[in-house]
Amino acid sequence: MKRRTFLGAGLAIGLSATLGEWKAFAQNHPTAPPDPHAGMVGMSHDVNRINPPPPSLMPLEAMASGAELRPLPTLENISGQTGVFRASLEAKPAPMQLAGGKTTEIWCYNGLLPGPMISVNEGDTVEIRFHNGLPQATTIHWHGLPVPPDQDGNPHDPVPPGHDRLYRFTLPADCAGTYWYHPHPHNDVAEQVFRGLAGAFIVKSKQDPLAHLPERHLLISDLRLDKEGKIPDNDLFDWMNGREGNFVLINGQREPTITLNGTERLRLWNACSSRYCRLTIPHCELIVVGTDGGLVETPQPPVSELLLAPAERIEIVVRAQKSGVFPLQSLFYDRKKMGVQDSPETLTLAQVVVRSPSTPSLPPRLRAIHDPGAPQSAKKVVFSEDMTVMDAAMNPVRGQEGMAPRAMLKDMFQINGKTFDMNRVDLQSRVGAVEEWLIVNTSHMDHPFHLHGTQFLVLEHTLNGLSQPAPFPAWKDTINLRPGEQIKIKTVQRHPGFRMFHCHILEHESLGMMGILNVTP
Ligand code: C2O
Ligand code: CU
Ligand code: CU
Repeated sequence: MKRRTFLGAGLAIGLSATLGEWKAFAQNHPTAPPDPHAGMVGMSHDVNRINPPPPSLMPLEAMASGAELRPLPTLENISGQTGVFRASLEAKPAPMQLAGGKTTEIWCYNGLLPGPMISVNEGDTVEIRFHNGLPQATTIHWHGLPVPPDQDGNPHDPVPPGHDRLYRFTLPADCAGTYWYHPHPHNDVAEQVFRGLAGAFIVKSKQDPLAHLPERHLLISDLRLDKEGKIPDNDLFDWMNGREGNFVLINGQREPTITLNGTERLRLWNACSSRYCRLTIPHCELIVVGTDGGLVETPQPPVSELLLAPAERIEIVVRAQKSGVFPLQSLFYDRKKMGVQDSPETLTLAQVVVRSPSTPSLPPRLRAIHDPGAPQSAKKVVFSEDMTVMDAAMNPVRGQEGMAPRAMLKDMFQINGKTFDMNRVDLQSRVGAVEEWLIVNTSHMDHPFHLHGTQFLVLEHTLNGLSQPAPFPAWKDTINLRPGEQIKIKTVQRHPGFRMFHCHILEHESLGMMGILNVTP
């Protein structure tokens, strides 16, 4: 578990001073970027006035660990017709015994944490009868999948509590990949996901060059439990930085054992609200064979670690140098949170048992990634933060002390200078138009950019004045931006309607770090 230290109790006063101080500091240190984090260190007073101490949390040992990793349960297809996947999903609160002998009320799909995995083929028609048994409106969003906007769970199409709806879409050719589904109602995405609503979605190809390999699925999520087993609300720092649970789970299990039998194809999901997973397995090399939107062209050179930002997925093959039991770890990643400082800890997510080292023999060619062609238009998306909002949140004026943290931060994170408005179109595209988007992060923390309804190619990253092409062609729907980073992507929308684009730190999304793309025929 990552402990967090509240930086200088004196945030309340410290920050207002720092806004001015940064300017002075930056003037005197022209090479130093104005860094709000730097400004905050060392102040001291009582942060509890603005953010009550977090409830005491369930100790990690209170949840069982070490059991063999269970496969994700799959959602049963009741159609009986080839080419049709028909099933039902229900979102509802359910009691579960997760830790410490306490009962936790989670919100989940079909009573499962995570939700059941949906596995279909390219070209299938998918029909999901959905019932909303939650006390809030919700939708199901098919993250990354090329489905028409009116079936994609936009916030404009809520399913009220107690109501049903049918989601129906036909998947195109060449969309095999590793996707997921989660709620996307207006305002409440963060809460619905941190209470447990998310599930894996796989699209398979009939010509799969890795079909001979056994597959294993690792869906990483996190969950915060207090010592009574309850799921606490977000506090100010959760809204600011995104919430991280004290329990990091794989397929709903704490620190499972994963026994690798020779060469396996692993699909990994980062389904956490805001946690970045910097994954490594000592004595093992990781060979990337696929990204969000399916296989890459060739197996990539082995690496020792991989960063998965929230909502990203990856397919890998593990090459072990020797047999043994090695931890699957998440190394510390400094995503420049504000107001808190994580102690740089390494988390153990699982124990990996390697029976015998093997050198995977993979086909040299996995797939062709077809560039959609020369861009016909360009767009710019700027992620920014309004530090005066943070300043005000840290220094509530008389009468505002009791204000909900979320309300205080409601204008903090912006896209193109605005927060989300359901009734405003931010960008316009045409069906089939090839577009180049420049995405710029002018804020002081990392934000993962996500665009609905399609996959994109990353063309180039620019950080600290240095531009680099994407290391290899890959279909992505979510990509992280470091503070100050710029990314160019190439993308095409295939259906008319509204598409969302947003930061996938779900607290930021729910605070309104999101915009609407209107795609016209
Ligand atoms: Cu994972 Cu807008 O979604
Ligand atoms: Cu999405
Ligand atoms: Cu963000």
